[in-house]
Amino acid sequence: MTALEIENLSVRYGARSAVSDVSLRLDHGRTVGLVGESGSGKSSVANAVVGLAPVSAGDIRVNGVSAVGRRSRARQARLRIQLIFQDPYSALDPRMPVGASVAEGTLATGRRWSREARRRRVRELLEQVHVDPDRAGALPGAFSGGQRQRITIARALAGEPEVLIADEVTSALDVSVQSTVLNLLRELQRTLGLSILFISHDLAVVRYISDEVSVMRHGGIVESGPTEALLAAPSDPYTEELLGAVPVLGRRMTFEETATP
Ligand SMILES: Nc1ncnc2c1ncn2[C@@H]1O[C@H](COP(=O)(O)OP(=O)(O)OP(=O)(O)O)[C@@H](O)[C@H]1O
Ligand SMILES: [Mg+2]
Repeated sequence: MTALEIENLSVRYGARSAVSDVSLRLDHGRTVGLVGESGSGKSSVANAVVGLAPVSAGDIRVNGVSAVGRRSRARQARLRIQLIFQDPYSALDPRMPVGASVAEGTLATGRRWSREARRRRVRELLEQVHVDPDRAGALPGAFSGGQRQRITIARALAGEPEVLIADEVTSALDVSVQSTVLNLLRELQRTLGLSILFISHDLAVVRYISDEVSVMRHGGIVESGPTEALLAAPSDPYTEELLGAVPVLGRRMTFEETATP
C-alpha cells in the first residue's frame, strides 16, 4: 500500500486558489521531492496533508485511509504524518528544555508513557539525531541551528510517523550544515523505513535526497518522475529553467558537488 497518496488536491484560501488538481504518490520507504519557485503552492500541499490548510477538493490518503475531514479516523490518519518546518529557531519553545519538547512529540503516538519510559525514549531519540542525550535539560538557545533542526526532527520522530514531511528544512542553514541534516534524513529513512516528502525550492538539495521528483508551478504539478531520468531529460521548460542553476547532470551528485557554486 502507498504510504501517502494525494489525489486531485485543491487548496483555496477564500477566493484565492493556491493549489489545483495536484496528485502525488509516496511509496513506503521512499523520498519524493517537491520542488518549485516561491509561491508555487508547495507548503500549501504540505499543510493540507496535516490539516493546517483547507482542502477544497480531492483526497489525501495515508495507508489507504482518508486523512481529510474531522472524523476521528481522518484525525488518526493525520497523526501518522509529521511535518517539520524551515525555521529551527521558532520551531522550539525557547523556554522549554529540548528534552521536554521532544517528549511532547510522544503524545502523537496515542499511547500512555510512564515517566521513565518517556525519559528513556527521549534519550534514544536524541541519540538517533546525533545530539548528546545528556544535554536534554538545556534550552534551545544553547544549540546551533543545525542541532536545533535535528532536535525538531527528533520531536517529529517521537510521534512514530509513517510519513515525514520536510518543508524547506535546510533553507535557513549554512551549506556546510545542510549536508548533515540531509544525511541524517537519509540515514533515518534507511534505518526506520520512513517515507519522506521533501519540499524545497532548491533543486540541488532535492536531487541529492529524492528518489522521485515532482515539479510545481502556479499551484499545479508540471512534471514528475524518477529523479535522474527527469533531470536528465526534462520535458517541461520550467524544469529546464530550474536546472539551469545545477552544475552536473546525469547522475546523483555528492552533496559537496551540488554545493559548489
Ligand atoms: N494562509 C494563507 N492565506 C492566504 N493565502 C495564502 C496562505 N498561505 C499561502 N497563501 C498563498 O498561496 C500561494 C502558495 O503559497 P505557498 O506558501 O503554498 O507556496 P510555496 O511554494 O510554499 O512558497 P515558498 O517557496 O515561498 O515557501 C501563494 O500565493 C501564497 O501567497
Ligand atoms: Mg513554502
